[in-house]
Amino acid sequence: MTGNNLAIVVLAAGQGTRMKSRLPKVLHPIGGRPLVGHVLTTAARLQAAHIEVVVRHERDQVVAALAKDYPDAVFVDQDDIPGTGRAVQVAVEALPADFDGDVLVLSGDCPLADADTLSAFLAEHRESGAPATLMTALVDDPTGYGRVIRDADGGVDRVVEQKDASAEEAAVREINAGMYAFRAETLRTYLPQVGVDNAQGEMYLTDVPGMLRRDGDRVAASVVSDVTVTYGVNDRAQLAEVGRLLNQRIVRRWQLEGVTVIDPATTWIDDDAKLSPDVTILPNTQILRATVVAPGAIIGPDTTLVDCEVGEDAVVRRTDATLAVIGAEATVGPFSFLRPGTVLGAKGKIGAYVETKNAEIGEGSKVPHLSYVGDATIGRGVNLGASTITANYDDVHKHRTEIGDEVHTGSHTVLVAPVRLGAGAKTGAGAVVRKDVPAGALAMTVAPQRNVEGWVEKNRAGTGAADAAARENSAE
Ligand code: UD1
Ligand code: CA
Repeated sequence: MTGNNLAIVVLAAGQGTRMKSRLPKVLHPIGGRPLVGHVLTTAARLQAAHIEVVVRHERDQVVAALAKDYPDAVFVDQDDIPGTGRAVQVAVEALPADFDGDVLVLSGDCPLADADTLSAFLAEHRESGAPATLMTALVDDPTGYGRVIRDADGGVDRVVEQKDASAEEAAVREINAGMYAFRAETLRTYLPQVGVDNAQGEMYLTDVPGMLRRDGDRVAASVVSDVTVTYGVNDRAQLAEVGRLLNQRIVRRWQLEGVTVIDPATTWIDDDAKLSPDVTILPNTQILRATVVAPGAIIGPDTTLVDCEVGEDAVVRRTDATLAVIGAEATVGPFSFLRPGTVLGAKGKIGAYVETKNAEIGEGSKVPHLSYVGDATIGRGVNLGASTITANYDDVHKHRTEIGDEVHTGSHTVLVAPVRLGAGAKTGAGAVVRKDVPAGALAMTVAPQRNVEGWVEKNRAGTGAADAAARENSAE
């Protein structure tokens, strides 16, 4: 394909009324990016000289959501005149006046058309020499789509929108997929002639094929074999269906790369995530955004990872983690909550009912049970006793806790930050540590225990406790 005489126009100006949403339709996400983001990701692979996104409804919000990730896209504003015909017209007017290549028109709400399908479509258009080529599909239920009406020789005669179709036309099962290739000249000639005299009072891009035919020109059609590439999102039911199809594709791609996915139906992998051979994913697991998983790691069941990095052979089960780094051979879960800035060293452990945030936990260090570790730096070979807590917040500021190598804390230690425990230090069970502990020291803050013998039998006579105590004491 000669990329330089290609312009891609992505239609994203519509409101998406049927979504019934505050969010513009094309910004609804599937697979970790907005619908129109998938179209732009694909467009970027086709090496076009121009990529234009036509915007109008909530244009600032749409531009803000896309500008950073798609720096090559040029945003073109549609005016008050509604319809896909007008949208393409403003895009063509924004191209250099001497641009005489092909214009590939895509819809921001059709995210499943992949680069291979579109390259083949363009090649077909160029080979046929027709001034316009429609992508079409044969479907069982054409409801909602424009119908492709063929003439007696089987050529494309025109496209009729559902709302303008006679009963006979509505029964046609070949639909307009909403993706087209046009010679730029053809659009410059015909779009100014498109009117708004139709059921929706809009300028239909789909009027152009019929006009070409009336002038004795030819319109080519490329019937796709996989109809799912044409699926568009107009309502929330279609959003879920298209999201599921996209996910199916992504899961399959990783399976073929050597990832074991036990239950594809309950495994959700975003398009930007990167897995590796011999990763195993157990049911009900979401691997989201730019998460990267190294070979041999086992993730799930019931795990959500957002923008995380998981090291080789790590095991992460029943965990919710965001912006966390999990070292090689480390174990996390079950029921762990890793918040941003958690960095767990190789062979480290974050165990059951543990929450971490902005916490660097060194190689081989363990936080096994019922802890909160926030704003902390922890050395190597450390063991935090069950229910050790970093008290990092004094109602005004957050403070750091520093823990040296080989420190062991007793159960239920509270480390009141800012505080530092030197290498090899220990704390007694229940210690409330407010002052730094020197290397190798034992910190104890709980008063020595005093037993008042016979207290229960004397003060709680007649209770089950008193009776049990009496039995044990008389047996001795
Ligand atoms: C359109 C086609 C229909 C086709 C279907 C395929 C027309 C008239 N009809 O119908 O034949 O079967 O797509 O999915 O083209 N848009 C703008 N500006 C506008 C209106 C729409 O940019 O003024 C954008 C929308 O944001 C959307 C795309 O164009 O991304 C399609 O618009 P939509 O209203 O969804 O058209 P359909 O009714 O689906
Ligand atoms: Ca649509």
